[in-house]
Amino acid sequence: MTSTILQTKHLFKHFDGVKAVDHLSVSFEKGKITSIIGPNGSGKSTLINLLTGLVPLDAGEVIIAHSLHFTRVKSHEVAGFGLTRTFQDVRLFEQLSVLDNILVVLTERGVFASLFETHGTLHLAQAEEVLKKMGLWEKRHSLAINLSYGQRKLLEIARVLAMTRSARTGRAADIIFFDEPFAGLFPEMRKVVVSVMKELRAEGRTQILVEHNMELIRELSDEVVVLDAGELLAQGVPNEVLAKREVIEAYLGE
Ligand SMILES: Nc1ncnc2c1ncn2[C@@H]1O[C@H](COP(=O)(O)OP(=O)(O)OP(=O)(O)O)[C@@H](O)[C@H]1O
Ligand SMILES: [Mg+2]
Repeated sequence: MTSTILQTKHLFKHFDGVKAVDHLSVSFEKGKITSIIGPNGSGKSTLINLLTGLVPLDAGEVIIAHSLHFTRVKSHEVAGFGLTRTFQDVRLFEQLSVLDNILVVLTERGVFASLFETHGTLHLAQAEEVLKKMGLWEKRHSLAINLSYGQRKLLEIARVLAMTRSARTGRAADIIFFDEPFAGLFPEMRKVVVSVMKELRAEGRTQILVEHNMELIRELSDEVVVLDAGELLAQGVPNEVLAKREVIEAYLGE
């Protein structure tokens, strides 16, 4: 049984005449990993920005199935809908320690309140669990800004994991967007991220992945959405979609 958890209808966004997302109607299934692929500039990140309310849409709709309640997404509602994400360009609290980057997510209060809080053993235990999983526990006292690029990407994913365990929003994250989480990672770090994504799928969470590496796409995706110049070129299971002539041409035509 499949059910749609997230959907766009005629979604449209342009930047100075560039149609970044061009009347796109696409849907995402609950509990699956859907990869969004397409050439550079085809609108993948813009689509995620629209779906998470980071960037306002020009026209069309974003619909989130939230129990039986369907609605348009607004930026301030995103956390309440259980959406979380990583950024292609990595966004962390640079001047906070690795541990504090996680605790901020786990605590019920805002960033500043959380820094002056005595953290409960539950939060510390959860932070330890996610940091150990991402291989960052030894780095817990380093400032985020001093981490290597790969470690920064892993910390962003650790934060997403913490969001899935957080009661902060009253609703733990169950739709997760990863915008090129593997870029710049060493193979052993990639393996960690692959296993985290498989674990999140086993927990029933919905994941939307932007990725260029075909091997990883084949390994992880239940579904593939192909964008070309902001339009939907194909959607379906990886083997079928990746064999399509128009998909191969869109890539070779870069
Ligand atoms: N904030 C912005 N201002 C102006 N143009 C933008 C902005 N964001 C995206 N664009 C343009 O919209 C188009 C789609 O960009 P987007 O970043 O969504 O592509 P992408 O598929 O994520 O590419 P990549 O694979 O390189 O990450 C591009 O032409 C890009 O230059
Ligand atoms: Mg992008």
